[in-house]
Amino acid sequence: MKKDRILVTGGTGYIGSHTVVELQKAGYPVVIIDNLSNSNAEVIDGIERITSVRPDFVEGDCTDIETLRRLFASFPDIKGIINFAASKAVGESMHKPILYYRNNLNTLLNLLDLMGPNGVKGIVFSSSCTVYGEPDENPVTEAAPIKKATSPYGNTKQISEEIITDVINAGAPFKSVILRYFNPVGAHPSAEIGELPNGVPQNLIPYLTQTAIGIRQELSVFGDDYNTPDGSCIRDYINVVDLAQAHVIAVERMLNDISDKKIEIFNLGTGNGVSVLELIHTFEEATGVKVPHKIVGRRAGDIEKVWANPAFANEVLGWKATTSLADTMRSAWAWQCRLRERGIM
Ligand code: UD1
Repeated sequence: MKKDRILVTGGTGYIGSHTVVELQKAGYPVVIIDNLSNSNAEVIDGIERITSVRPDFVEGDCTDIETLRRLFASFPDIKGIINFAASKAVGESMHKPILYYRNNLNTLLNLLDLMGPNGVKGIVFSSSCTVYGEPDENPVTEAAPIKKATSPYGNTKQISEEIITDVINAGAPFKSVILRYFNPVGAHPSAEIGELPNGVPQNLIPYLTQTAIGIRQELSVFGDDYNTPDGSCIRDYINVVDLAQAHVIAVERMLNDISDKKIEIFNLGTGNGVSVLELIHTFEEATGVKVPHKIVGRRAGDIEKVWANPAFANEVLGWKATTSLADTMRSAWAWQCRLRERGIM
């Protein structure tokens, strides 16, 4: 049976592209909209090489509602949306709050506005463990309190969750699954797609792999005086393909009315807390490549430790992160090497 079409906003980005691959593998026709502000159209070729299917692609900005109206008119069979279109750099959001509020909130409002009239049954929203701030307890369940956001980026995620809740409670004719990601890392095992940050990476893994290949001299470890076993911060690093697969399950849940709830929220993590120093060690063991690094001072705004309790997603979605951290590190390294082969980095 032909499956319903899924609109993936931000579908040429890091998590978006991996999700398009998994959707197409599961037989869903996909249309991507992306303004290419932090990605490029060659990602579509990578998706096609992996899946042998070329997703439909519209270059456009979701903050422009007319662009979205035209898209829905061209693809009247869209039944589900996965919304990745957003600005995502914590530090940048401190300097450019208007950009963050405009991009992240207008995009969501436009999509919610057009879903009902276009017969869309559900929206999956990319949220973040950032909504928990510095949690009182680890591992974190979905019932943990939402803490005041420490950046405009984090605030857009909190506000977006509230907007979706308000719109659905007001009787909107669709469902939503909100996914709170922990730290997505790694690349597709084919090394055809992966994370491609603009400029100097802010996140740990792209900085680490760029250091390992010699683009950067040394990785700075931000702090070794935290209240953790080795003094460095602890996160829950989740493989991006495992993460992408949860989106397919979430879409199926909404389109097939598997749950009677109109809004559901799930933590997506592995359940394992890993320190920055442990992660460097795992990378070195898994790849045989050394990562020159030094301890420097703490980075302002960093959380000391946060990792997921993914039991709710494990039980209700029947989803579990299965890729080992070593395999994930090997995939990140293979991707970095592929970028070098292609002369991109
Ligand atoms: C942050 C956000 C998260 C967001 C993600 C993507 C918070 C609490 N978390 O995650 O919501 O989705 O960015 O942009 O706002 N580190 C180093 N050296 C480096 C880079 C990082 O030691 O050069 C350390 C950091 O101190 C941290 C860990 O590595 O302990 C992970 O950092 P990063 O990859 O930037 O992600 P988060 O800050 O956890």
